[in-house]
Amino acid sequence: MTSSAQDSPVQLSIKGALAHITISAPPVNALSPQVRQGLLDALRQLKNHPDDLKGLVLTASGKTFIAGADIKEMQIGQQEPSLPAVIAALEACALPTVAALNGAALGGGLEIALACNARIAVPTAKLGFPEVHLGIIPGAGGAERLVRTTGFEAACELIAGGKPVSAASGLDMGLIEAVVAPDKLLSTAEALALDPELPKRPIARAVIAQASDGDWQTAVQTRRKANKGLIAPATAVQALRDGACLPLDQAQQANRQRYLQLRESRQAKALRGLFFAERDVRKVPGLDRSAALPVERLGVIGGGTMGVGIAASALIAGLSVVLVERDQAACQTAKTRIHGLLASADRRGLLGKVGGLESCQTRLVCQVEYNALAPCSFVVEAVFEDMAVKQAVLTQIEAAVAPQTIIATNTSYLDINAIADSASDPARVLGLHFFAPANINKLVEVVQTRTASAAALATAFAVAEKLRKLPILAQVCDGFIANRIYARYREACDFLLEEGALPEQIDAALTDFGFKMGLYAVSDMSGLDIAWARRKRLAATRDPNQRYSAIADKLCEAGRLGQKTGKGWYRYDEGSKTPHVDPWVTEAIEAESHRLGIKRQSFTAETIMQRVLAAMASEARALLDEGIALRASDVDLALVTGFGFPRHQGGPLFWAAQNQPEPAGGASARDLPKQHD
Ligand code: NAI
Repeated sequence: MTSSAQDSPVQLSIKGALAHITISAPPVNALSPQVRQGLLDALRQLKNHPDDLKGLVLTASGKTFIAGADIKEMQIGQQEPSLPAVIAALEACALPTVAALNGAALGGGLEIALACNARIAVPTAKLGFPEVHLGIIPGAGGAERLVRTTGFEAACELIAGGKPVSAASGLDMGLIEAVVAPDKLLSTAEALALDPELPKRPIARAVIAQASDGDWQTAVQTRRKANKGLIAPATAVQALRDGACLPLDQAQQANRQRYLQLRESRQAKALRGLFFAERDVRKVPGLDRSAALPVERLGVIGGGTMGVGIAASALIAGLSVVLVERDQAACQTAKTRIHGLLASADRRGLLGKVGGLESCQTRLVCQVEYNALAPCSFVVEAVFEDMAVKQAVLTQIEAAVAPQTIIATNTSYLDINAIADSASDPARVLGLHFFAPANINKLVEVVQTRTASAAALATAFAVAEKLRKLPILAQVCDGFIANRIYARYREACDFLLEEGALPEQIDAALTDFGFKMGLYAVSDMSGLDIAWARRKRLAATRDPNQRYSAIADKLCEAGRLGQKTGKGWYRYDEGSKTPHVDPWVTEAIEAESHRLGIKRQSFTAETIMQRVLAAMASEARALLDEGIALRASDVDLALVTGFGFPRHQGGPLFWAAQNQPEPAGGASARDLPKQHD
């Protein structure tokens, strides 16, 4: 017998002495207002069966139990009924209740499961609290229930680490009671619901995650250190600690408050913005995905830094690769480096689905002859950054491949329209701009030329996605999206040096803001010579009236090329990568200010960041105005993905939007009350 509104995503059915509540809200059973209302209605209807029922099984249809909250709802404002109300109703249900997890139970989904007496799961189910990745913590008692089901370490890891665990790990840590084959899931849950030994609901159990004050304190500090600037992970530990140490009603109140404040915080808005940016970036007006050519074999020209990374990415994604280099020695070097990257991917368990290490190695051919490219339907050129070299290589590729083969250039700055114009068929040419290290970095700019065909564009997107990259559409300009903004960022920092700041102050301001490393430390790591070569190349055409900082040139001229020469913006001890402030650099910078007649002033970290971010945002706006980037969120996503702009800061345009005067009542991360430790 079934008794729920026909169109409700939640159905109640009665089978003898057992009630089943089944959620069915494809594709992932997110906790929308309709699902929450459906759950409440079903629980209310149970009260119409006062005496004849002995147990309740809560499950869902499809491959997911509940994937978590409906993130869109957080953007537009939470509707009734709230998740805590649903959970309260579930816990108030007098029937012994078993959650039969038919797939992932994440976030609010796991909170619902933890409101049941017991949980059993299919082997493929993932269990976790990924809320911290959205800048929040579980908002409906997850922490209070978790400390009553698992030990201290596991609870901290689950809630503050945010990484879901397998059903087997969930069983080990006490999160669930059993792992069951899918065809036995419901029958086992039914039997368990009728079992007189069924455990109490977590909320009624004693705390398991007991720890000393010192342990909690250390856990909070560890999360602060590991997630610099990010509020949610340390707050998650504080929520657990209150869950373990405070009277239950006080803990529940405190944690709901924490959740509500975090949800409205600037960090959560930034992270939600990026969540939606990742979805929107796939929507490219006019892109006809059906025009994409099938690509099983990728051609790569040039086995240097980028060619090697691109080839490794393709092999790890299951494609075959033909790599063309200038001579046998270069072929051999490229092959050895690619094998090295594959071996490292193998150690990280990334090759299981593509036949293992040996299969990847055999799918790679390194050749000197261009005619080896004949079977490739897509070729990426990654040779030296030189227009004449690239155009000559393009002619050789065209002579070797089939007429429909698409050819992409990985140029960083060259005019791709000019490269395409030199082809006999410009329609097949476009840009595919990877970021170093190309086997790891997810960003790829698909650069559309004036002449690129629908097939070229669609195939470029398809290839990038096959390589598990994040393709973002850009139009041709100097530096496309990310490099063009990066150049402005560099320039803003160099001008600050001239005006009074020092590299270590700028780097400290950047890392405080959330960058993993400061600009000058990064520059020393990757070497100052590449950018120097480019500046020299552009010198002849540079507008003499344009402000230009010559400090980096002075360092290069003095042989300070970064870590590889033991000195750059910093000094390095033999064999060490730890930067030390070098008085030589300080003097060189001060001398340059003097030469320019600039009176040096002191800058606070905040002023440094204002200047740097304003420069980035202004360049980002110019990109939008010129139509180089499709939308603001694409630009933010490009900077976060490609250049490590701190995710929780949302990107330069998000930052700029937030730095408009705040509407009254808007809570920012800075407004969050200091949590008691
Ligand atoms: P690289 O100097 O490390 O490698 C270039 C390779 O191309 C060399 O191994 C060289 O032997 C080979 N090559 C040159 N002419 C050739 C020809 N005619 N036929 C076959 N192979 C040839 O350079 P890298 O860094 O890999 O850069 C390659 C391209 O990627 C450049 O256009 C660069 O601007 C761009 N790029 C570089 C990034 C980086 O961080 N290094 C990031 C994004 C793009």
